[in-house]
Amino acid sequence: MEISEHIYVRSNRLILRQFSQQDVNPFYLYRSSPEVAKFQSWENYQRHDAEVFVEKQSKCVPNQPGTWFQFAIALAETNQLIGDCALHTLLAEPRIVEIGYTLAEEHQGKGYASEAVRALLSYVFNDLGKHKVIAFTDVRNENSIRLLERVGMRREGHLLENYMSKGQWVDEYQYALLRSEWEQEFKVKYQE
Ligand SMILES: CC(C)(COP(=O)(O)OP(=O)(O)OC[C@H]1O[C@@H](n2cnc3c(N)ncnc32)[C@H](O)[C@@H]1OP(=O)(O)O)[C@@H](O)C(=O)NCCC(=O)NCCS
Repeated sequence: MEISEHIYVRSNRLILRQFSQQDVNPFYLYRSSPEVAKFQSWENYQRHDAEVFVEKQSKCVPNQPGTWFQFAIALAETNQLIGDCALHTLLAEPRIVEIGYTLAEEHQGKGYASEAVRALLSYVFNDLGKHKVIAFTDVRNENSIRLLERVGMRREGHLLENYMSKGQWVDEYQYALLRSEWEQEFKVKYQE
């Protein structure tokens, strides 16, 4: 199928591409789900918020120090939006990036998030040449913790009351993957 949006990375079943106007509705539907928002910063997400988000992200480019870029995660066969993943290029040290990820509920439990994050890691290390990737997760978010460990990220910190979530200070784990660890992982996989 012809896909008009810019595609940053491809994997077996997915593409990570630029957001576009057609994404407003599916994006709003999953962002406004209380289950999806449970461990996230937002609450009571409105359609207008989705319109503003998509409009802004459709014009952004990744890898700008001090900014967040959101990749639309879409099914490669149909271009249907199923979630998003984020890349935060740190202002003080742009060779280090933070990632984030969200999937619509109906697309969870199928390995799509792992596939998207692995594709993002390959983009970050191979295409952008970054030194280190970090991710933060609420310590109660078991699905997120499983995902981070599945893709080979290493827990390197337990940050006490590090994040204000829905009126409550919560602990976070910091996960990380160094370029050297990622290359090692790849080498091992190719040798198998
Ligand atoms: C965190 C989140 C993205 C994880 O999504 P997920 O679908 O559970 O993650 P994966 O893509 O790794 O899927 C893994 C599951 O799919 C199953 N699976 C089914 N088919 C599979 C396949 N072909 N390949 C791999 N795994 C498959 C795995 O067994 C695994 O199940 P398990 O978790 O019960 O062991 C999702 O829960 C989410 O969007 N949550 C809300 C937003 C959020 O909290 N984001 C994190 C902020 S830090």
